[in-house]
Amino acid sequence: MSEPNSEALSTPLSVKHNGQPARRPRLRGVGVVGLGYWGPNHVRNLYDLRCAEQVYVCDLDSKRREHMHQLYPGVIALSDFDELLANPDIEGVIVATPVSQHFPMARAALRAGKSALVEKPLATSRSQALELIKLARETGSVLMVGHTFEYSAPVRKIKQLLDGGALGDVFYISSTRANLGLFQRDVNVAWDLATHDISIINMLMGRAPLAVSCQGQSHYRDRTEDVALLTLDFGNSVVAFIHVSWLDPNKIRRTTIVGSRQMLVYDDTSTQEKIRIYDKGVNVLPYYDTYGQFQFSYRYGDIQIPRIEEAEPLKLECEDFVRCVGERAVPLTDGLNGLRVVSVLEAANQSLRSEGRPIPVQTEEDADA
Ligand SMILES: NC(=O)c1ccc[n+]([C@@H]2O[C@H](COP(=O)([O-])OP(=O)(O)OC[C@H]3O[C@@H](n4cnc5c(N)ncnc54)[C@H](O)[C@@H]3O)[C@@H](O)[C@H]2O)c1
Repeated sequence: MSEPNSEALSTPLSVKHNGQPARRPRLRGVGVVGLGYWGPNHVRNLYDLRCAEQVYVCDLDSKRREHMHQLYPGVIALSDFDELLANPDIEGVIVATPVSQHFPMARAALRAGKSALVEKPLATSRSQALELIKLARETGSVLMVGHTFEYSAPVRKIKQLLDGGALGDVFYISSTRANLGLFQRDVNVAWDLATHDISIINMLMGRAPLAVSCQGQSHYRDRTEDVALLTLDFGNSVVAFIHVSWLDPNKIRRTTIVGSRQMLVYDDTSTQEKIRIYDKGVNVLPYYDTYGQFQFSYRYGDIQIPRIEEAEPLKLECEDFVRCVGERAVPLTDGLNGLRVVSVLEAANQSLRSEGRPIPVQTEEDADA
């Protein structure tokens, strides 16, 4: 398989480098398992993209299957996941079931020779994620994780700005993702919501943190934290804070990046102005004779709001999956990307159970050993 298309970070995924629209492969069949809250968004995008001759959907719940059939009369609806896997026309499977089912379903799909796009997080442990990566390599299938924000235009714009040095050196990143609900049954709030922030921050930093500490509390169910605070240590005084909550009166989706040159605020709830770049900072006066003269000067410059060409991130994600299955290419959010996030979450869980002690994050090099 070829390497992930790094150009995809800075150019729309459906456009090739020469400016010509990419030829979008059409698959014989794609299946979506899990038609609860999120799965139907995958079905809609697969339908809109017309990327498969046949879209199959699967859910244990007959009401969910009927609902999908009403919306998209052309889909073939199944109740049994094994039946989906036994169909030789289905080349790729999207797993949008509860988190605890990601690993067994993705493993079964890969074993059946299908490619798999697994909703976030890829699995519930590093060892599971590693097993999926190994299996995908052995079967020559595509393994991808649904880190949707890595396909979003604002996040890709921020990556461009950071890589171009617009903010200078990153001092810290602070991210809040909070709202009231939706409580997940099988994972805590970190595995549910912080997954997005970790994937975004890993992408922006170009690497996973060295260590993580995490504190949290459960107010409704034992050992299922509904509020958590994670600290990601990237070394060299670079730190990221992530606050996630299912118990907040307001919906907040805000990331602040403070750099040595400029500061940036990304508010995903804003419809028009998701990114603001503040030409603000601190200058240390180079000369002073006494402690009393020691002072900083603060810079209050202009605020820039870059224009962002929005496209639905999930559409780009589905498009990348279909393209990679058709061309046997490596998607932007491949299995290793999924492993990096799961490694941080696993360390965060360990920290939660040991009163917030920093836990080293295992690296990919550890995985290859
Ligand atoms: N990328 C994103 O932005 C995003 C957003 C929301 C949810 N998600 C992810 O999507 C996944 C699903 O979340 P949700 O909120 O839609 O959950 P949900 O509980 O609303 O839906 C899950 C569905 O899976 C079905 N299901 C469970 N076991 C099954 C089985 N063995 N065979 C067939 N169907 C089965 C259930 O009947 C249900 O309809 C989760 O992994 C979640 O993390 C991702």
